[in-house]
Amino acid sequence: MLRRASIEDLDGLQRIEDVCFQDRRFRRELLEWILRNARALALVEEAEGRIRAALLLLFEGRVGRVLSIAVEPKARRRGIATRLMFAAEDAARDRGCGIVRLEVGTANLAAIALYRRLGYGTEGLLPKYYSWGEDAFEMRKVLERPPDVPHVSVASVPIHSSR
Ligand SMILES: CC(C)(COP(=O)(O)OP(=O)(O)OC[C@H]1O[C@@H](n2cnc3c(N)ncnc32)[C@H](O)[C@@H]1OP(=O)(O)O)[C@@H](O)C(=O)NCCC(=O)NCCS
Repeated sequence: MLRRASIEDLDGLQRIEDVCFQDRRFRRELLEWILRNARALALVEEAEGRIRAALLLLFEGRVGRVLSIAVEPKARRRGIATRLMFAAEDAARDRGCGIVRLEVGTANLAAIALYRRLGYGTEGLLPKYYSWGEDAFEMRKVLERPPDVPHVSVASVPIHSSR
């Protein structure tokens, strides 16, 4: 079941971060901030009462920004990330966004393949974007039925660089 997360899901979100990102995980304080922030949205996929995947989205005006997506290893390659991304795009559309954007490490071939398949295009390279020195690609997708504003330029604040 795919649903919106609430503050009660903080431990479940933390577990997914620990399992999927280890020492590059988001801090618990950031997860809590996202869960309590009206400009952010956390989506989770749950099976038998256990969260096995999560997506974190930030609304930046007319742009939805995917901060993180993670599926626990044993649940991968079953389309869960794809469903989460579609749900995030729906949520962004509902909030009046015309674009979804994200940053992804240039070595993260699985995530890049996922995003490309969903129609995300590479916008540019962000050298040493992450705190451990890895470069990132900025990727974005124009959503169908865009609202009035066709293009919004957004500064790249390196939220991911803490990971
Ligand atoms: C990237 C990630 C979220 C994908 O989750 P998933 O649920 O396995 O993805 P899906 O099943 O929806 O995959 C959809 C498509 O993406 C591509 N893809 C996904 N994982 C892939 C991999 N390891 N290698 C190559 N292509 C891959 C494939 O085209 C796949 O379709 P297919 O299975 O029919 O070939 C998952 O591997 C993950 O959690 N990785 C660790 C966390 C991470 O790096 N997150 C992204 C940065 S925040």
